[in-house]
Amino acid sequence: MADDVWDPDLYQRFLAERTKPGLDLIALVLPAESMRIADLGCGTGKLTAELHGKLTAASTLGVDSSPAMLEQANVLAQPGLHFEQADILTWSPAVKLDLVFSNAALQWLGDHPGLLRKLSGWLAEKGQLAIQVPQADDHPSHTVATRLGEKYGTGPLYPGRHNVLSPEGYSELLFHMGFEQQQVFSRIYGHLLPSLDAMVQFFRSTLLNPWRKALGEDGFKAFLQEYREALKAELGEPEPLFFPMKRTLIWARR
Ligand SMILES: C[S@@+](CC[C@H](N)C(=O)[O-])C[C@H]1O[C@@H](n2cnc3c(N)ncnc32)[C@H](O)[C@@H]1O
Repeated sequence: MADDVWDPDLYQRFLAERTKPGLDLIALVLPAESMRIADLGCGTGKLTAELHGKLTAASTLGVDSSPAMLEQANVLAQPGLHFEQADILTWSPAVKLDLVFSNAALQWLGDHPGLLRKLSGWLAEKGQLAIQVPQADDHPSHTVATRLGEKYGTGPLYPGRHNVLSPEGYSELLFHMGFEQQQVFSRIYGHLLPSLDAMVQFFRSTLLNPWRKALGEDGFKAFLQEYREALKAELGEPEPLFFPMKRTLIWARR
């Protein structure tokens, strides 16, 4: 699909770095019997399958809008574990849920106060929310992309900073939404990437996706080259390259 900018193979090249925050998020969930779960922005479904197995859930549905990501996820489907192509913005569950889970996806969606209110409206009694969003907008990987966006006339296409709230903002929101228990914290994930090129590849499959779509293959190639040069000017080319990536983990229970 021409509109589908997600590349599952490239995304999974950094599987260990991408999986750790997801496993930390799963660890926050309180297990309960026969849980009904939705995983929003499930991607390739690996973490969805992990979540389903760890919680021995009754039913887990992974929702994602990318056909390429879902093609890989569907291979993992089994009784009780299913995947569906849909936009999180318009999808809604057929039954009340015990857990709404989302790892590294909701940063692409706006109005988090409204979004979290909607998601919590899907929860059954004692239902849980578990969400992880990256918060690395101040790192050169992100500031350089924003700066180049100006130069290429696209503007700042990665919406993270505008969508993602501060940890305190989520905490306050959850309190006012009536959640009795919550854990909200920022965590730095120290990624030891082999090189600067690895960092470029790391973000080519996520943060930079909108530029790939806006600029077409040739324009994006030029953009990537400049991105690499500008990153080199700020970070040098150490091998390995240490990348402290900030993420926010959010858990709450009714
Ligand atoms: C960075 S990946 C994370 C995948 C998976 N949760 C994981 O942890 O490996 C983000 C995923 O969110 C999906 N996504 C982004 N916006 C979406 C939307 N509005 N509706 C459905 N899926 C969306 C993308 O297609 C992509 O697969």
